[in-house]
Amino acid sequence: MPNDINYTIYGGFRYIPAFDPGIDNDIPPVEVVDLREKLAQADGIIICTPEYAFGVPGALKNALDWTVFSGSFSGKPTALITASTGGKNAHEALIKILGAIDAKLSPETTLLIQFVRSKIDTHGNVTDPDTTQKLKTLIEAFINSF
Ligand SMILES: Cc1cc2nc3c(=O)[nH]c(=O)nc-3n(C[C@H](O)[C@H](O)[C@H](O)COP(=O)(O)O)c2cc1C
Repeated sequence: MPNDINYTIYGGFRYIPAFDPGIDNDIPPVEVVDLREKLAQADGIIICTPEYAFGVPGALKNALDWTVFSGSFSGKPTALITASTGGKNAHEALIKILGAIDAKLSPETTLLIQFVRSKIDTHGNVTDPDTTQKLKTLIEAFINSF
């Protein structure tokens, strides 16, 4: 990430209750209000995820469900990185989901990294030059989409 870009890593997925449209119509849970505020404050969102059981990890899908009514992703510059062993199912599903919630996503801001364990070391450093280049290109396209 370029030095002039400030970013935070959201760590609250585990505290977000299961999506319930009934509650959303009334008073949404504080964790959900907090998530929506963070999304509103951000110029752009990067979603980076593995695939679980041939699908989108439940915690991520749950959080995204809470943003349907709030429109938090509508027109929001978004990048999607699916980093997994296979990951194709989750990646394709997320492209559809992000389309449904009107995220500003393009082929240039989506990247599927397969066999990720052979491309990133245990400290999180990318060790595969091709993946490094693809990530740089994605970040550039993401920033240009602001
Ligand atoms: C419960 C579980 C289910 C998984 N299912 C899939 C899957 O369907 N497809 C896939 O590509 N990887 C799957 N994986 C492996 C993830 O891709 C792997 O955890 C991912 O590469 C992230 O690496 P890490 O676990 O070292 O963080 C699964 C992992 C777990 C723990």
